Amino acid sequence: MTFPRHRYRRLRYSEPLRDMVRETHLDPADFIAPLFVVPGAGVRQAVPSMPGVDRTSADLAGVDASELFSLGVKSVILFGIPDHKDATGTSSADPEGPVCEAIRAIKAASPQTVVITDICLCEYTDHGHCGVLKGQYVDNDPTLEILAREALTHVQAGADIVAPSDMMDGRVAALRDTLDREGHVHIPILSYAAKYSSGFYGPFREAAESAPSFGDRRSYQMDPANVREAVKEVLSDIEEGADMVMVKPAMTYLDVVRAVKEVTNVPLAAYNVSGEYAMVKAAAQNGWIDGKRVTLEILTSIKRAGADLILTYHAKEAAQWLG
Ligand code: PBG
Repeated sequence: MTFPRHRYRRLRYSEPLRDMVRETHLDPADFIAPLFVVPGAGVRQAVPSMPGVDRTSADLAGVDASELFSLGVKSVILFGIPDHKDATGTSSADPEGPVCEAIRAIKAASPQTVVITDICLCEYTDHGHCGVLKGQYVDNDPTLEILAREALTHVQAGADIVAPSDMMDGRVAALRDTLDREGHVHIPILSYAAKYSSGFYGPFREAAESAPSFGDRRSYQMDPANVREAVKEVLSDIEEGADMVMVKPAMTYLDVVRAVKEVTNVPLAAYNVSGEYAMVKAAAQNGWIDGKRVTLEILTSIKRAGADLILTYHAKEAAQWLG
């Protein structure tokens, strides 16, 4: 017999009671804020499909990072949009490129901010793929060396964590070997271990100017239909030396977040990606949903599914709402 002895509504009676029994709590320190950085100084350009998100030059990235830090958002992840692109993404290892400039500016403006850098070639190649090409095919092994050089360059500029997002096989080991050989044994790797080939990256590719000029990313990013494969990817990245792992996107992959959580004991991040953000903003601007309520519900669901950290474009507003 349950009813009438068991009445679950007793614990929902008042806000303080609901607070007492709440199982999942959001904290601004859970959020990692993505920042898009461009060359120059004093530059701030809105991203049309992502209201509230700007592309900035390094100096203003420093301003934004310190504001985020004062709201409790202690980490940022940088994406660079370089002046120069070529077939092998040479500018990905430019110590004077926008990412390295931004690392230095952020460290000067907000020394405690944890600066993560995205390691990938798609923003730096003229064909927009995440690795070098052999004909039409993205060639895995020659790409590893270029990615490792990019990571080393960021670390030499002061990055605290590197986050490879290219989905080449073996890149975590390649980064670890290079960083260790160069004396950076203490720099953690956050691997985009289970990254799906997703339609939800559209607005990001507009912001980062990184859409592939032909074909798609299905020969390296994962098939959205697979979850066993995500577990395999994650476990082998940890074996290769990943200190933290990520599932991406987040909202439509909460089952993957849960599956990964159950088989790992390293910090788990989920990326609430650009398309997820754009949908919420568009619907809220039309008055079709309550943007604040829906955003906090989404972020809570990602954490409830098992994510310890959430990369999200909502970081600043959510931190303000939580504060
Ligand atoms: C690759 C990268 C992408 C995103 C993060 N890192 C784009 C892609 O794989 O095409 C997408 C993030 C988002 O949509 O918010 N450098």
